[in-house]
Amino acid sequence: MTEQLLVEKSIGLIGESQAPTGAWMACASFSQYRYSWLRDGSFIAYAMLVSGQPGSCRRFLAWGAAVLDRHAPKAAAVEAAVRAGRTLGPRDFLPTRFTLEGEEARDDWPNHQIDGYGAWLWCVERYVGATGDRAALAAWAPAIDICLRYLAATWRLPCYDCWEEHPDQVHPATLACVHGGLAAAAALLGRADARREADLVRGFTLEHCAPYGGFPKSIGLDDVDASLLWLSVPFGVAAPGDPRMRATVRAIEARLLLEGGVKRYAADTYFGGGRWLLLTAWLGWHRAVSGDAAGAESCLRWVLDRADADGNLPEQTLDIVNDRSFVKPWEERWGTVASPLLWSHAMFLVLRGALRADRDAHISDTRKERT
Ligand code: BGC
Repeated sequence: MTEQLLVEKSIGLIGESQAPTGAWMACASFSQYRYSWLRDGSFIAYAMLVSGQPGSCRRFLAWGAAVLDRHAPKAAAVEAAVRAGRTLGPRDFLPTRFTLEGEEARDDWPNHQIDGYGAWLWCVERYVGATGDRAALAAWAPAIDICLRYLAATWRLPCYDCWEEHPDQVHPATLACVHGGLAAAAALLGRADARREADLVRGFTLEHCAPYGGFPKSIGLDDVDASLLWLSVPFGVAAPGDPRMRATVRAIEARLLLEGGVKRYAADTYFGGGRWLLLTAWLGWHRAVSGDAAGAESCLRWVLDRADADGNLPEQTLDIVNDRSFVKPWEERWGTVASPLLWSHAMFLVLRGALRADRDAHISDTRKERT
Protein backbone atom coordinates (compact mmCIF):
# COMPACT_ATOMS: atom_id res chain seq x y z
CA MET A 1 0.00 0.00 0.00
CA THR A 2 1.37 3.45 -0.87
CA GLU A 3 1.47 6.27 1.62
CA GLN A 4 -1.08 8.28 -0.34
CA LEU A 5 -3.50 5.35 -0.52
CA LEU A 6 -3.24 4.82 3.24
CA VAL A 7 -3.84 8.53 3.82
CA GLU A 8 -7.01 8.35 1.73
CA LYS A 9 -8.08 5.09 3.36
CA SER A 10 -7.53 6.51 6.85
CA ILE A 11 -9.42 9.75 6.23
CA GLY A 12 -12.24 7.85 4.53
CA LEU A 13 -12.48 5.25 7.30
CA ILE A 14 -12.48 7.81 10.11
CA GLY A 15 -15.00 9.96 8.24
CA GLU A 16 -17.38 7.04 7.57
CA SER A 17 -17.06 5.75 11.13
CA GLN A 18 -18.09 9.01 12.78
CA ALA A 19 -21.55 8.68 14.31
CA PRO A 20 -24.15 11.40 13.69
CA THR A 21 -23.51 12.46 17.30
CA GLY A 22 -19.86 13.22 16.39
CA ALA A 23 -18.43 10.32 18.43
CA TRP A 24 -16.28 7.43 17.20
CA MET A 25 -16.21 3.84 18.39
CA ALA A 26 -12.56 3.02 19.04
CA CYS A 27 -12.96 -0.10 16.85
CA ALA A 28 -16.43 -1.12 15.72
CA SER A 29 -15.42 -4.72 14.94
CA PHE A 30 -13.91 -5.42 18.39
CA SER A 31 -16.60 -6.05 20.95
CA GLN A 32 -14.84 -4.33 23.87
CA TYR A 33 -14.08 -1.20 21.87
CA ARG A 34 -17.59 -0.28 20.78
CA TYR A 35 -17.44 2.88 22.88
CA SER A 36 -16.21 6.39 22.34
CA TRP A 37 -13.11 7.23 24.38
CA LEU A 38 -12.27 10.88 25.01
CA ARG A 39 -8.58 9.95 24.66
CA ASP A 40 -8.79 8.12 21.33
CA GLY A 41 -11.38 10.56 20.02
CA SER A 42 -9.36 13.68 20.74
CA PHE A 43 -6.38 12.36 18.76
CA ILE A 44 -8.62 11.09 15.97
CA ALA A 45 -10.24 14.54 15.81
CA TYR A 46 -6.81 16.18 15.72
CA ALA A 47 -5.77 13.84 12.90
CA MET A 48 -8.82 14.94 10.93
CA LEU A 49 -7.97 18.59 11.60
CA VAL A 50 -4.43 18.22 10.25
CA SER A 51 -5.80 16.22 7.30
CA GLY A 52 -8.01 19.03 6.06
CA GLN A 53 -11.22 17.84 7.74
CA PRO A 54 -12.01 20.50 10.36
CA GLY A 55 -15.75 19.80 10.33
CA SER A 56 -15.17 16.26 11.50
CA CYS A 57 -12.91 17.55 14.28
CA ARG A 58 -15.54 20.11 15.28
CA ARG A 59 -18.29 17.49 15.49
CA PHE A 60 -16.26 15.37 17.87
CA LEU A 61 -15.36 18.35 20.03
CA ALA A 62 -19.04 19.37 20.13
CA TRP A 63 -19.92 15.83 21.22
CA GLY A 64 -17.31 16.11 24.00
CA ALA A 65 -18.77 19.45 25.09
CA ALA A 66 -22.26 17.94 25.22
CA VAL A 67 -20.93 15.03 27.29
CA LEU A 68 -19.34 17.42 29.76
CA ASP A 69 -22.50 19.52 29.96
CA ARG A 70 -24.58 16.42 30.59
CA HIS A 71 -22.27 15.13 33.32
CA ALA A 72 -21.76 18.52 35.00
CA PRO A 73 -23.54 17.48 38.22
CA LYS A 74 -21.24 14.49 38.63
CA ALA A 75 -18.17 16.66 37.97
CA ALA A 76 -19.37 19.18 40.55
CA ALA A 77 -19.94 16.41 43.11
CA VAL A 78 -16.38 15.16 42.59
CA GLU A 79 -15.00 18.65 42.99
CA ALA A 80 -16.97 19.20 46.23
CA ALA A 81 -15.89 15.83 47.63
CA VAL A 82 -12.21 16.42 46.84
CA ARG A 83 -12.33 19.88 48.40
CA ALA A 84 -13.99 18.42 51.49
CA GLY A 85 -11.32 15.72 51.70
CA ARG A 86 -13.82 12.86 51.21
CA THR A 87 -12.59 9.61 49.67
CA LEU A 88 -14.18 8.67 46.36
CA GLY A 89 -14.53 5.30 44.63
CA PRO A 90 -13.62 4.75 40.95
CA ARG A 91 -17.27 4.94 39.91
CA ASP A 92 -17.70 8.37 41.46
CA PHE A 93 -15.43 9.98 38.87
CA LEU A 94 -16.22 10.96 35.30
CA PRO A 95 -15.54 8.03 32.96
CA THR A 96 -13.03 7.74 30.17
CA ARG A 97 -15.45 6.30 27.62
CA PHE A 98 -19.08 6.69 26.71
CA THR A 99 -21.72 5.34 24.41
CA LEU A 100 -22.07 7.21 21.14
CA GLU A 101 -24.93 9.11 22.74
CA GLY A 102 -22.69 10.27 25.57
CA GLU A 103 -23.95 7.97 28.32
CA GLU A 104 -21.69 6.17 30.75
CA ALA A 105 -20.93 2.60 29.76
CA ARG A 106 -22.68 0.08 32.00
CA ASP A 107 -20.06 -2.59 32.45
CA ASP A 108 -17.29 -3.46 34.85
CA TRP A 109 -14.36 -2.11 32.86
CA PRO A 110 -12.14 0.38 34.72
CA ASN A 111 -13.20 3.82 33.74
CA HIS A 112 -11.67 6.43 36.03
CA GLN A 113 -9.06 8.10 33.82
CA ILE A 114 -8.58 11.84 33.45
CA ASP A 115 -6.14 12.05 30.53
CA GLY A 116 -8.91 12.23 27.91
CA TYR A 117 -10.30 15.40 29.47
CA GLY A 118 -6.93 17.09 29.07
CA ALA A 119 -6.60 15.79 25.52
CA TRP A 120 -10.07 17.11 24.66
CA LEU A 121 -9.17 20.62 25.91
CA TRP A 122 -5.90 20.50 23.99
CA CYS A 123 -7.75 19.55 20.81
CA VAL A 124 -10.23 22.41 21.32
CA GLU A 125 -7.31 24.84 21.29
CA ARG A 126 -5.77 23.22 18.22
CA TYR A 127 -9.12 23.42 16.42
CA VAL A 128 -9.93 27.03 17.32
CA GLY A 129 -6.34 28.07 16.63
CA ALA A 130 -6.46 26.50 13.16
CA THR A 131 -9.96 27.61 12.14
CA GLY A 132 -10.66 30.77 14.16
CA ASP A 133 -14.10 29.30 14.94
CA ARG A 134 -14.97 31.58 17.88
CA ALA A 135 -18.67 30.66 17.62
CA ALA A 136 -17.85 27.06 18.50
CA LEU A 137 -15.60 28.24 21.30
CA ALA A 138 -18.42 30.34 22.73
CA ALA A 139 -20.82 27.38 22.53
CA TRP A 140 -18.32 25.14 24.35
CA ALA A 141 -17.42 27.69 27.06
CA PRO A 142 -19.50 26.03 29.83
CA ALA A 143 -18.02 22.61 29.01
CA ILE A 144 -14.50 24.02 28.98
CA ASP A 145 -15.11 25.49 32.40
CA ILE A 146 -16.42 22.17 33.77
CA CYS A 147 -13.38 20.41 32.34
CA LEU A 148 -10.89 22.90 33.81
CA ARG A 149 -12.44 22.68 37.25
CA TYR A 150 -12.60 18.90 37.13
CA LEU A 151 -8.94 18.56 36.14
CA ALA A 152 -7.82 21.06 38.76
CA ALA A 153 -9.69 19.06 41.43
CA THR A 154 -8.49 15.61 40.40
CA TRP A 155 -4.99 15.65 38.91
CA ARG A 156 -3.22 14.90 42.21
CA LEU A 157 -5.30 11.73 42.79
CA PRO A 158 -4.33 8.28 41.52
CA CYS A 159 -6.36 7.01 38.59
CA TYR A 160 -6.13 4.30 35.94
CA ASP A 161 -3.39 5.01 33.42
CA CYS A 162 -3.98 5.46 29.70
CA TRP A 163 -3.77 1.66 29.25
CA GLU A 164 -6.57 1.27 31.84
CA GLU A 165 -4.25 -0.24 34.44
CA HIS A 166 -2.58 0.62 37.77
CA PRO A 167 -5.37 2.61 39.44
CA ASP A 168 -3.42 3.20 42.64
CA GLN A 169 -0.71 5.32 41.07
CA VAL A 170 -0.14 8.70 39.49
CA HIS A 171 1.12 8.57 35.92
CA PRO A 172 3.27 11.21 34.20
CA ALA A 173 1.67 10.54 30.80
CA THR A 174 -1.74 11.29 32.34
CA LEU A 175 -0.31 14.44 33.94
CA ALA A 176 1.08 15.43 30.54
CA CYS A 177 -2.43 15.36 29.06
CA VAL A 178 -3.74 17.39 31.99
CA HIS A 179 -0.92 19.90 31.60
CA GLY A 180 -1.49 20.13 27.84
CA GLY A 181 -5.21 20.75 28.33
CA LEU A 182 -4.80 23.37 31.05
CA ALA A 183 -2.04 25.19 29.16
CA ALA A 184 -4.07 25.12 25.96
CA ALA A 185 -7.11 26.60 27.71
CA ALA A 186 -4.93 29.24 29.34
CA ALA A 187 -3.53 30.24 25.95
CA LEU A 188 -6.92 30.22 24.25
CA LEU A 189 -8.90 32.05 26.91
CA GLY A 190 -6.18 34.00 28.69
CA ARG A 191 -7.17 32.34 31.97
CA ALA A 192 -4.60 32.92 34.67
CA ASP A 193 -6.14 30.21 36.89
CA ALA A 194 -5.59 27.60 34.17
CA ARG A 195 -2.03 28.84 33.62
CA ARG A 196 -1.25 28.58 37.35
CA GLU A 197 -2.67 25.08 37.56
CA ALA A 198 -0.80 23.99 34.40
CA ASP A 199 2.45 25.22 35.98
CA LEU A 200 1.71 23.25 39.14
CA VAL A 201 1.13 20.06 37.15
CA ARG A 202 4.29 20.61 35.16
CA GLY A 203 6.37 21.39 38.25
CA PHE A 204 5.08 18.27 40.00
CA THR A 205 5.84 16.07 36.97
CA LEU A 206 9.34 17.48 36.53
CA GLU A 207 10.12 16.89 40.20
CA HIS A 208 9.43 13.19 39.81
CA CYS A 209 12.08 11.82 37.53
CA ALA A 210 13.04 8.18 37.94
CA PRO A 211 16.44 6.91 39.08
CA TYR A 212 17.26 6.00 35.48
CA GLY A 213 17.30 9.75 34.69
CA GLY A 214 14.10 10.04 32.67
CA PHE A 215 10.40 10.09 33.54
CA PRO A 216 8.78 7.04 35.15
CA LYS A 217 5.81 5.04 33.93
CA SER A 218 4.19 5.84 37.29
CA ILE A 219 5.52 8.07 40.02
CA GLY A 220 7.90 6.20 42.30
CA LEU A 221 8.79 3.51 39.74
CA ASP A 222 12.00 3.13 37.75
CA ASP A 223 10.23 1.80 34.68
CA VAL A 224 9.55 3.39 31.32
CA ASP A 225 6.42 3.43 29.17
CA ALA A 226 6.12 4.57 25.56
CA SER A 227 3.21 6.87 26.46
CA LEU A 228 5.83 9.08 28.14
CA LEU A 229 6.52 10.44 24.64
CA TRP A 230 3.39 12.55 25.21
CA LEU A 231 5.32 14.64 27.74
CA SER A 232 7.12 16.38 24.91
CA VAL A 233 4.86 15.95 21.90
CA PRO A 234 2.28 17.32 22.00
CA PHE A 235 1.83 18.34 25.63
CA GLY A 236 5.02 20.27 26.32
CA VAL A 237 5.85 19.26 29.89
CA ALA A 238 9.46 18.95 28.75
CA ALA A 239 10.96 20.11 25.45
CA PRO A 240 12.15 17.28 23.17
CA GLY A 241 15.74 18.39 23.83
CA ASP A 242 15.38 18.53 27.63
CA PRO A 243 17.93 16.10 29.16
CA ARG A 244 15.17 14.32 31.11
CA MET A 245 13.15 13.85 27.93
CA ARG A 246 16.20 12.67 26.02
CA ALA A 247 16.87 10.09 28.74
CA THR A 248 13.23 8.99 28.52
CA VAL A 249 13.36 8.58 24.75
CA ARG A 250 16.70 6.77 25.00
CA ALA A 251 15.13 4.32 27.46
CA ILE A 252 12.08 3.84 25.21
CA GLU A 253 14.35 3.16 22.25
CA ALA A 254 16.60 0.83 24.23
CA ARG A 255 13.89 -1.17 26.01
CA LEU A 256 10.73 -0.91 23.90
CA LEU A 257 11.73 -0.33 20.27
CA LEU A 258 12.17 -3.68 18.52
CA GLU A 259 12.90 -4.00 14.83
CA GLY A 260 11.17 -0.73 14.05
CA GLY A 261 8.05 -1.02 16.22
CA VAL A 262 7.36 0.24 19.75
CA LYS A 263 5.91 -1.75 22.66
CA ARG A 264 3.90 -0.12 25.45
CA TYR A 265 6.09 -1.31 28.35
CA ALA A 266 8.35 -4.22 29.15
CA ALA A 267 5.92 -6.16 31.35
CA ASP A 268 2.90 -5.72 29.03
CA THR A 269 1.03 -8.99 28.50
CA TYR A 270 -2.12 -7.69 26.75
CA PHE A 271 -2.32 -10.04 23.73
CA GLY A 272 1.23 -11.01 24.75
CA GLY A 273 2.51 -7.41 24.66
CA GLY A 274 3.30 -6.69 21.01
CA ARG A 275 4.38 -3.60 19.11
CA TRP A 276 1.80 -0.82 18.86
CA LEU A 277 1.26 1.15 15.67
CA LEU A 278 0.07 4.30 17.36
CA LEU A 279 3.12 4.39 19.64
CA THR A 280 5.50 3.81 16.76
CA ALA A 281 3.84 6.75 14.98
CA TRP A 282 4.27 8.73 18.21
CA LEU A 283 7.98 8.04 18.29
CA GLY A 284 8.07 9.24 14.69
CA TRP A 285 6.16 12.39 15.64
CA HIS A 286 8.67 13.06 18.41
CA ARG A 287 11.55 12.49 16.01
CA ALA A 288 10.00 14.75 13.36
CA VAL A 289 9.58 17.56 15.89
CA SER A 290 13.15 16.97 17.08
CA GLY A 291 14.48 17.40 13.54
CA ASP A 292 15.21 13.70 12.91
CA ALA A 293 13.30 13.40 9.65
CA ALA A 294 14.99 10.15 8.63
CA GLY A 295 14.13 8.51 11.96
CA ALA A 296 10.55 9.74 11.64
CA GLU A 297 10.32 8.38 8.09
CA SER A 298 11.37 4.93 9.29
CA CYS A 299 8.52 4.96 11.84
CA LEU A 300 6.05 6.01 9.14
CA ARG A 301 7.30 3.22 6.89
CA TRP A 302 6.97 0.64 9.67
CA VAL A 303 3.36 1.64 10.33
CA LEU A 304 2.55 1.73 6.63
CA ASP A 305 3.93 -1.79 6.20
CA ARG A 306 1.55 -3.09 8.90
CA ALA A 307 -1.56 -2.24 6.85
CA ASP A 308 -3.47 -5.29 5.58
CA ALA A 309 -4.53 -5.67 1.96
CA ASP A 310 -7.57 -3.44 2.57
CA GLY A 311 -5.50 -0.75 4.29
CA ASN A 312 -6.68 -1.56 7.82
CA LEU A 313 -4.27 -0.81 10.66
CA PRO A 314 -4.46 -2.97 13.79
CA GLU A 315 -3.83 -1.87 17.36
CA GLN A 316 -0.69 -3.97 17.67
CA THR A 317 1.26 -6.70 15.84
CA LEU A 318 1.98 -10.02 17.51
CA ASP A 319 5.06 -11.18 15.61
CA ILE A 320 7.32 -10.01 18.46
CA VAL A 321 5.68 -10.09 21.91
CA ASN A 322 6.81 -9.95 25.53
CA ASP A 323 5.13 -13.23 26.50
CA ARG A 324 3.57 -15.47 23.86
CA SER A 325 1.69 -17.54 26.43
CA PHE A 326 -0.74 -14.62 26.82
CA VAL A 327 -1.74 -14.39 23.16
CA LYS A 328 -4.20 -17.29 23.06
CA PRO A 329 -5.98 -16.51 26.33
CA TRP A 330 -6.68 -12.95 25.13
CA GLU A 331 -7.81 -14.19 21.72
CA GLU A 332 -10.17 -16.66 23.40
CA ARG A 333 -11.48 -13.92 25.64
CA TRP A 334 -11.93 -11.00 23.21
CA GLY A 335 -11.15 -12.28 19.68
CA THR A 336 -8.24 -11.25 17.47
CA VAL A 337 -6.41 -7.92 17.94
CA ALA A 338 -8.61 -4.88 17.23
CA SER A 339 -8.46 -3.81 13.56
CA PRO A 340 -9.01 -1.30 12.11
CA LEU A 341 -8.23 0.72 15.22
CA LEU A 342 -9.12 4.33 14.45
CA TRP A 343 -6.46 5.66 16.82
CA SER A 344 -3.76 3.78 14.81
CA HIS A 345 -5.04 5.39 11.61
CA ALA A 346 -5.17 8.76 13.35
CA MET A 347 -1.56 8.63 14.53
CA PHE A 348 -0.44 7.58 11.07
CA LEU A 349 -2.12 10.74 9.73
CA VAL A 350 -0.63 12.89 12.50
CA LEU A 351 2.90 11.64 11.81
CA ARG A 352 2.44 11.96 8.11
CA GLY A 353 1.14 15.53 8.59
CA ALA A 354 4.17 16.39 10.76
CA LEU A 355 6.51 15.11 8.06
CA ARG A 356 4.76 16.69 5.10
CA ALA A 357 3.60 19.96 6.64
CA ASP A 358 4.17 21.99 3.46
CA ARG A 359 2.42 19.57 1.22
CA ASP A 360 -0.48 19.24 3.69
CA ALA A 361 -0.96 23.01 3.81
CA HIS A 362 -1.55 22.83 0.08
CA ILE A 363 -3.80 19.77 0.35
CA SER A 364 -5.98 21.27 3.07
CA ASP A 365 -6.58 24.32 0.87
CA THR A 366 -7.64 22.25 -2.08
CA ARG A 367 -9.24 19.13 -0.64
CA LYS A 368 -12.98 19.23 -0.34
CA GLU A 369 -14.09 18.11 3.04
CA ARG A 370 -16.79 15.47 3.26
CA THR A 371 -19.29 16.89 5.70
C1 BGC B 1 -6.10 0.91 25.46
C2 BGC B 1 -6.64 2.31 25.64
C3 BGC B 1 -7.55 2.69 24.48
C4 BGC B 1 -8.60 1.62 24.25
C5 BGC B 1 -9.41 1.90 22.99
C6 BGC B 1 -7.25 -0.05 25.21
O1 BGC B 1 -6.71 -1.32 24.99
O2 BGC B 1 -5.40 0.51 26.61
O3 BGC B 1 -5.58 3.24 25.68
O4 BGC B 1 -8.15 3.92 24.77
O5 BGC B 1 -7.99 0.38 24.09
O6 BGC B 1 -8.61 2.08 21.87
